[in-house]
Amino acid sequence: MAELTRKSRIRDFYAHPLGRDIADKVLMTMGRSSRWITNPVVANLRISHVERLASRMLGPSFVDTLLELLAANPDVPTTRGGPTERAWWKEAVFYQVYPRSFQDSDGDGVGDLAGITSRLDYLADLGVGCVWLSPVFASPNHDMGYDVSDYRAIMEEMGSMADMEELIRGCHERGMRIILDLVANHTSSEHEWFERAVADPDGPYGDYYFLRRGEPGEDGSGTPPTNWKSFFGGSAWRWIPEARRWVLRLFADTQPDLNWDNPRVRAEIEEIVQFWMAKGIDGFRMDVINYISKKEGLPEGDPFIGDLMWFTGIEHYYVGPHLHAYLRELRRRGFTRAADAEPPASTARRREADGTLGEPLPPEPVGLMVGETPGIGVEVGRLLSASERGELDMIFNFDVLTPPGNTRWSDFTYDLNYMKSYFEDYQDRIGSNDWIALFIENHDNPRIVSRVLGADAHNPVLREAVAKVVGTIMITMRGTPFIFQGQEIAAMNQDFTSMSDLRDVDSFGRHQDLRDEGATVGGAFAEILVGTRDHARVPMRWEPGGTTGFTTGEPWLPGREVSRGFTVAEQLAEPDSVLNWYKRLIQLRAEHEAFTYGEIEFVAPGARDYFAYYRLAPDGGRWLVEMNLSGSAVARRNTELRGEVVLGTTTERGQMMDPYEVVISHLP
Ligand code: GLC
Repeated sequence: MAELTRKSRIRDFYAHPLGRDIADKVLMTMGRSSRWITNPVVANLRISHVERLASRMLGPSFVDTLLELLAANPDVPTTRGGPTERAWWKEAVFYQVYPRSFQDSDGDGVGDLAGITSRLDYLADLGVGCVWLSPVFASPNHDMGYDVSDYRAIMEEMGSMADMEELIRGCHERGMRIILDLVANHTSSEHEWFERAVADPDGPYGDYYFLRRGEPGEDGSGTPPTNWKSFFGGSAWRWIPEARRWVLRLFADTQPDLNWDNPRVRAEIEEIVQFWMAKGIDGFRMDVINYISKKEGLPEGDPFIGDLMWFTGIEHYYVGPHLHAYLRELRRRGFTRAADAEPPASTARRREADGTLGEPLPPEPVGLMVGETPGIGVEVGRLLSASERGELDMIFNFDVLTPPGNTRWSDFTYDLNYMKSYFEDYQDRIGSNDWIALFIENHDNPRIVSRVLGADAHNPVLREAVAKVVGTIMITMRGTPFIFQGQEIAAMNQDFTSMSDLRDVDSFGRHQDLRDEGATVGGAFAEILVGTRDHARVPMRWEPGGTTGFTTGEPWLPGREVSRGFTVAEQLAEPDSVLNWYKRLIQLRAEHEAFTYGEIEFVAPGARDYFAYYRLAPDGGRWLVEMNLSGSAVARRNTELRGEVVLGTTTERGQMMDPYEVVISHLP
């Protein structure tokens, strides 16, 4: 891609993959369509014109920062047509387990590995093809395992290495795969590397992190080396008195960022991956993996971009200069099994669509790499996950979670029409060999039924209906579904009443920021209640009653919900439950290739409240998925009332669709 200058036109900017992603994000935030930028008048403007027009708003360094960023990212995604390549991870439905809150086996109130193993039959019965465990490595748990102090040891509360080996084997025996969570942008400050770095900042470990000399002032509140902000509140720098150095930490105080420019750091990570691959795991979800490469010298963040994106400094690392190269290297040296390597301890047994199990499959030559990539747009996402580039296999694109102009902390209602337009646009822009991860929940976000319904989520009929619509989209859309624990029983947000109900470091940091900005205790808590990650982290509701079958002790983060009908036991017994709906959908997806490898064709794109698409079977035949996204009746926009209904929330199929109705039919 030719380098852009101030003389380049807006058109050229928009033709640049990263330029397009940035422009799309800004346009979305402003509530404008891309036509605003592609119309000839604007498209022909030179960048220097726009700079002059908006100079007061943008500040002096904005254009330079942007041009440099684009120049450092010259790659252009190619669209490869032809039939979609096959891969196990395109066929599997993934299920994210948050181990602390899934199942406790020893009564200490914290979920553990033996607990997960005891629930594997439940997951296999649901039709799960791959389990993803949030971190289970040794950790002081300031960020609940996302602060690792030893990547080769199991967190004490979670069990032992033998429990881990048994869990891996337990998945494989049931025909499921298992991936773990690799948190490698940072370590815990209790990791041996960091302790050594602090003890001797000029020694070999000093360069594992970003340590900077400086003067902190009497109370430690002096001026940090740069204006970068932390995602969990405050400056991104922490003063370490013992080392007389500042250390960069994009997340909590206790999560210093690793310096990936140091080849020894990269080699350490490769060895960790190899260690776990030998144990038989099938790959890793990779935590904030797009942040690993920071711009050399860690320059000041642009204040305008900082305001726009909330986090000053982000342009220097969210697609850093060596991101692609580091990922390729890690794939080659960490995730690829050496030809002469010992075979993994176990591999998954083949599982047919009807659930029958066959022989163990041969080991995959390369472990799966799923990237958590906050802030990454469609085009750069395609670069990161294109199979011929050898970087990641899939990414999480977070735009689906928050409609433009909002953050997790904003009190917005999630309009399902946003999800519709998001997927219509996304699928339209990717080729037959691009592949996406489908998700709407995880351990970092409030529950979707509460986002959609607000207080109405307490109405069981609406709650169930919305959960079924969301489940249908996740499982029948083109891509790989990732279900977060509890989503399949329509888990909703908790009625926490004060900060003391919460455990999440991010909520505490945000709360502090709000108080510092002058918010009242009540005002600050109101915002925390909207966005706290603890909504998703309370224990799984297996059974009705006090500790929900999760523990015999005191749960580490007590859930508040007691509503009837929304536990696993109750939903297994109710044929029309959300859980059984998920099961049927997953079954349908397993039985018919149209839902994995088939193309997708949208019906009446742009129509409000009516969401429908065909999945085309590779060998002929079509499946029609139709949904009413609203709580009122809506007219069907297609004319095909023929075909056999294979799954539906109602039995009558008329010209009007009932509130939140879903129908899936098969047309020859
Ligand atoms: C990711 C994780 C989140 C964690 C953060 C820092 O966003 O999903 O839970 O706090 O990274 O590791």
